[in-house]
Amino acid sequence: MAFHTLAVADVERLCDDAVAVRFVVPDGLRDAFTFRPGRYLTLRTVRDGVEERRSYSICAPAGASPRVGVRRVTGGLFSEWLVDRLAPGDELDVAPPAGGFTPDIAPGSHHGMIAAGSGITPVLSIAASVLAAHPDTQVTLIYANRRTDTVMFAEELADLKNAHGPRLQLVHVLSREPTAAEIVGGRLDGDRLRRLLVALVDVPDVDQWWLCGPHGMTTGARAVLLEHGVSPDRVHRELFYVDEPPPELVRAEPVVEGATSEVTVVLDGRVTTLTLPRGEPILDSAQAVRGDLPFACKGGVCGTCRAKLTHGEVAMRRNFALEDDELAAGFVLTCQSRPTTDAVTVDFDS
Ligand code: FES
Repeated sequence: MAFHTLAVADVERLCDDAVAVRFVVPDGLRDAFTFRPGRYLTLRTVRDGVEERRSYSICAPAGASPRVGVRRVTGGLFSEWLVDRLAPGDELDVAPPAGGFTPDIAPGSHHGMIAAGSGITPVLSIAASVLAAHPDTQVTLIYANRRTDTVMFAEELADLKNAHGPRLQLVHVLSREPTAAEIVGGRLDGDRLRRLLVALVDVPDVDQWWLCGPHGMTTGARAVLLEHGVSPDRVHRELFYVDEPPPELVRAEPVVEGATSEVTVVLDGRVTTLTLPRGEPILDSAQAVRGDLPFACKGGVCGTCRAKLTHGEVAMRRNFALEDDELAAGFVLTCQSRPTTDAVTVDFDS
């Protein structure tokens, strides 16, 4: 994973606890930092000798200079530093845009979006890009927040609405503030989403759905869309943070403490075989030798550490990033996968 040092162009306050950070991209790096809407940047810093990485979604339309949205996470030193102390001219290590939460935008296509809280950041980028791509595209966006003063990008959303009129249907749902209509006042749970879809959205007309927010919200929204007959391959999800306990292991092999496996790692065509403990995630233990292995969250959320298991078996603890078709194809999250057979091969190039 290649990082480049970029200067901060500006830090714009979006609301009490969130900012948008725009970077200066020098001419020589323009191609590397050209992005598709919905992708994210990974930022890196070293504090007290410990390297930390975080991924933040780009919240700018395709073609603009990259800008990420950051909300302060309680106790999250990285986000606190970005939100409270970062200033124009500061420098940060930034990896080029990555991620698969990005649309192909056909003329006349209608994109539905459901976002909660800071989940708006990639959705804003997708919405602005969809509306700018062709004169006949449409966006329906349902955006859930607690109160008006916690709505990120409220002005930019209003500007988009003013610029595109009926091509953007924008529905704000507020859980802790009185609203003009009951249907948009309260938590965006399955019941409320069902009612909103029936009342306000021509669901069969929507070509693709883009969901971003906490795991519970996106899982519930996906289930409601499937109930409405939407095909699973037209529902795309991106998680921002995980507020729930990890799920059970997706494979049942017992982890043998103290034992080791021969783990072969393939990355950028270079093959390295290591003897690794079965009690540790492959990413953690292999990093001591292969410092170039890609990762960001180490929490099973971002998918940056994805690799294809081409030999052997692993036990994967948390998975909030891989979809069913990726699991069926043999992909695993190496930050969550412990080896369970004598020999394991993970291929990051697949
Ligand atoms: S590093 Fe984010 S899922 Fe593994």
